[in-house]
Amino acid sequence: MNKSMQLLSFYTSSKLIQNSMNECMTLEYANKEITYEFDRNKKYFLYMHIPFCEEFCSFCTFHKFKYKKDDCSAYFKNLRIELLKLKEKGFNFDTLYIGGGTPLIDEVELLNTIEYAKMLFDIKEVSCETTPNHINVDILKNFNGLINRLSIGVQTFDNEILKKTSRFEKYGSSSQLQNKISKVVDVFPTTSLDLIFNFPTQTEEMLLNDLKIAKNLGAKQIITYPLMKSKLRNIDIFSQFKLLKNSREYQLYLLIKNEMSTFYQNNAWAFSKNRFNLKDEYIAENNEYIGVGSGAFTHINRQLFVNAYDLNEYANLLKNQSNTIIAHSKKFRLKKYLQYQFLVHLFNGKVDIEKFNNKFNVSIEKSLNLELSLLKFIDAINITKSEIIPTPFGQYLSVVMMKEFYMGMDEIRAQLKKTIKS
Ligand SMILES: C[S@@+](CC[C@H](N)C(=O)[O-])C[C@H]1O[C@@H](n2cnc3c(N)ncnc32)[C@H](O)[C@@H]1O
Ligand code: SF4
Repeated sequence: MNKSMQLLSFYTSSKLIQNSMNECMTLEYANKEITYEFDRNKKYFLYMHIPFCEEFCSFCTFHKFKYKKDDCSAYFKNLRIELLKLKEKGFNFDTLYIGGGTPLIDEVELLNTIEYAKMLFDIKEVSCETTPNHINVDILKNFNGLINRLSIGVQTFDNEILKKTSRFEKYGSSSQLQNKISKVVDVFPTTSLDLIFNFPTQTEEMLLNDLKIAKNLGAKQIITYPLMKSKLRNIDIFSQFKLLKNSREYQLYLLIKNEMSTFYQNNAWAFSKNRFNLKDEYIAENNEYIGVGSGAFTHINRQLFVNAYDLNEYANLLKNQSNTIIAHSKKFRLKKYLQYQFLVHLFNGKVDIEKFNNKFNVSIEKSLNLELSLLKFIDAINITKSEIIPTPFGQYLSVVMMKEFYMGMDEIRAQLKKTIKS
């Protein structure tokens, strides 16, 4: 495919997902309690947000506050109250993903909270994010049997980029990082390393070096996120083309796929040593999830719900009502919802046509006829009788679309940040 065709494909894919995102971008804030229906017989996926960091990184837009011990202890206590409320409503969960911020920032509180969640619910699998500052082997051993997968935010092993992203001073040099990781890589069944590619000054050689080091350290999983920074959404089509044309992202993505070819590809940006079920992207893996904690999102019944961003508001709502939701999106129209689900399936590696049709009670061939024809025309997918499989180019398109989705979420976060009073 020639360069212009590629650019057009990237542009169309970005636009498609931006349009779908617009449906959930307009949040409605309510003065009275916002509730939703749920199925008592179903085990949902639980997301828990820990919005505290000792220091902030230049590239990160996730919901977080500067760490203060007392605020954080009070927050964890509230989290446990929120969990109890879900239990009393009749919820049950089999998987818990703890994200941040820095979940291990207060390890005693975290430990109590995981134990409490496991006591309340039938949770079998716990995944937890951390910065490299909290990977002391003696502390992590206390979480044996409680955490199944630890995801360490490394981002890069290149000293210059570590300095530029203000992580060198905080988390250590490349060799210090490697030394820390090598000591903990076998503490949990799965240790996953997060890397970011396409930093402005990152060369192909630097990226290859990052991947080689991550592999040599023995990580069972390696996730390679494209740097999410450009604001494609608010600029005109010519500027978008210029940005896409100058982007090295696709070349770097192909380089990653090649270097990681001995690993099993979990989804378009996650690679694991073995072919087993690792939960890496809760958004991508789970159609519906319930979020607890300040700023956590819940996705259920084709709608998004958001918990209070402000910590005082979060605590007050918890005292006075049955949940801490402050805003919700419109209900996604079926067509948009199907497009989004289709993207998530492509991102995860394939669409099983029969399963997809049964799950959403549609015929994908009819409902997404135009999308399928276009994707086929630009060589992004192969369709067999039973499956739709992305080509490497299609996988990259799904990365572009997922990145667009995350950046859309960033804009929602920017709106929500305005609700913080303290
Ligand atoms: C929200 S962070 C939490 C992990 C932990 N606090 C840390 O810094 O190591 C989870 C992961 O999101 C990814 N991430 C955050 N901001 C990003 C961005 N702007 N572009 C790409 N990936 C990003 C990073 O790889 C990070 O490890
Ligand atoms: S990348 Fe991690 S440590 Fe850095 S600001 Fe974001 S959540 Fe905090």
